[in-house]
Amino acid sequence: MLLVATFFLMGITQTHAENPALQSVLSQKGLQKVSHWATDWLQGDLSTIMLPEVKGSVSIFLGTIYYSLHDMTIVRCDLPEPAVSFSEGTGLSLQLQGLSIAITGKWNTDFGIIHDGGWFDLAVYTINLNALLEFQSTEEHFSITTAMCNADVGHVQINFHGGASQVSHNDILLLFIQICPQFQKGIENIDKYLAANDVIQVDSYVYLNLSLTDSPVVFDNGFKLNVKGEFYSVKSPSEPPFSPHYFKLPWQEDYMLSVGVSEFCINSAAYAYLKSGVLSINITDGMIPKTSPIHLNTSQFGSLVPQLPKKYPNMEMEVVLYATDTPLISFNQTVINVELSAAAKFSAIKSPTHLIPLFSLDMQYSFCAKVYTDGQLLKGALEMKNLTMQLGSTEIDKFDIAPFENLMKTVMNSFVLPKINAQLKEGLPLPSVKGFSLNKSMMTIENGFLFLAADITSPFQSLK
Ligand SMILES: *[C@@H]1O[C@H](CO)[C@@H](O)[C@H](O)[C@H]1NC(C)=O
Ligand SMILES: *[C@@H]1O[C@H](CO)[C@@H](O)[C@H](O)[C@H]1NC(C)=O
Ligand SMILES: *[C@@H]1O[C@H](CO)[C@@H](O)[C@H](O)[C@H]1NC(C)=O
Ligand SMILES: *[C@@H]1O[C@H](CO)[C@@H](O)[C@H](O)[C@H]1NC(C)=O
Ligand SMILES: *[C@@H]1O[C@H](CO)[C@@H](O)[C@H](O)[C@H]1NC(C)=O
Ligand SMILES: *[C@@H]1O[C@H](CO)[C@@H](O)[C@H](O)[C@H]1NC(C)=O
Repeated sequence: MLLVATFFLMGITQTHAENPALQSVLSQKGLQKVSHWATDWLQGDLSTIMLPEVKGSVSIFLGTIYYSLHDMTIVRCDLPEPAVSFSEGTGLSLQLQGLSIAITGKWNTDFGIIHDGGWFDLAVYTINLNALLEFQSTEEHFSITTAMCNADVGHVQINFHGGASQVSHNDILLLFIQICPQFQKGIENIDKYLAANDVIQVDSYVYLNLSLTDSPVVFDNGFKLNVKGEFYSVKSPSEPPFSPHYFKLPWQEDYMLSVGVSEFCINSAAYAYLKSGVLSINITDGMIPKTSPIHLNTSQFGSLVPQLPKKYPNMEMEVVLYATDTPLISFNQTVINVELSAAAKFSAIKSPTHLIPLFSLDMQYSFCAKVYTDGQLLKGALEMKNLTMQLGSTEIDKFDIAPFENLMKTVMNSFVLPKINAQLKEGLPLPSVKGFSLNKSMMTIENGFLFLAADITSPFQSLK
């Protein structure tokens, strides 16, 4: 019985395995582009790289020669574009054909008490490399390892200059030209970088957890990452009272990148900001435009709250406006719904340090929005569906809040929303990450998630 119960519980925890709030697929088209950028970048950057010192020893019949090759720089490199393709179920295969490289550097040898040194130049022609990289999830982060590597070298030329003695070139060369170990080291560095970057610090209040919820999935035409995609408050990280739902990403082969962002991802951001205490603003009369018909002044508020100017004539007021609950966003076929609960606390300012509490209002807003991308811009329209208001508390007797509600509706519909919509019609620039920006893109609102398919422009591309 216990066994059955345990098994059943295990089943439950299994099905409660975390659903990814972010899903992304890099297509074959995307892979080709990434490989192209990497080749360009390497080709341009190799000449500035100082190669690490190579040390070793060679046994000859008289004893052992210890040598070091150092201060090496790449003076020329012909890097052909590799052929890359996804290897279903594993990762990616990479074939590089005809890499040639020329290096200069200094050499030193120690053979017993004989020390010698000079400089050298080295040219390696027609390196062919054939490698298979494996994509995995290691401790919940995306990791790349070298599963297989073969390399051969067509032709090598080395000239040692200076020094009295000459070393046995071929032995040193065999040790030095270790293409696969060097390649493997490069992949290890990329892997270390990935392991150290599974969190994005958005600002000083929230961060985004990018750990994987399961292993990367490699198809023959793309590869998919399922990412936790949950925002946390830096100050007080905690789980929100809602959880991610499963969604199926309808990825597009003819775009480089497809991304699905679930409601949970967005709502966890709202929750994290709420927890960080930043969804709050103090509004003073100084912040209201001079031309506004309404000012934060007890005399002027007489039309809304008749008893107010009688009790506190002619005083400036302050409003603390804050979210009382997590703003909830939902994606529902073509529209985004936003539910907002807020409170406004009104006080009269007797002196900068002495505020007299007056009353507070509880408000529920409901908005709906349509958004789309147009090139590099995010465009759309926002509409208020509903606004309700209640008197939360009052220190100055009860009053009818209908005039307040009507005023708020007028302010929203005649001032706030037209301003936001004018901006949304013109478009907001989509963020570009480290110089990478969207070129062609398509965005749709699906049931429970937002879908974006895009081609990316690299910052290196514009240099050409
Ligand atoms: C991110 O989420 C994973 C999985 O829930 C967790 O193990 C890891 O500690 C989290 N990292 C941070 C920095 O919150
Ligand atoms: C806003 O007002 C509240 C209450 O009046 C006060 O505690 C808080 O410090 C104010 N915040 C700012 C940024 O002025
Ligand atoms: C409040 O408004 C009245 C009339 O609109 C104005 O005369 C008065 O100076 C204002 N008081 C403050 C404190 O701003
Ligand atoms: C989603 O939209 C459909 C029609 O477009 C509507 O019938 C349904 O009630 C909406 N669901 C939610 C949760 O808003
Ligand atoms: C607005 O919200 C209130 C309460 O939240 C609800 O009773 C009312 O039916 C809503 N009105 C519309 C038009 O959705
Ligand atoms: C978008 O990509 C096309 C084709 O690759 C290119 O001609 C165009 O300049 C790119 N546009 C931007 C804004 O980068």
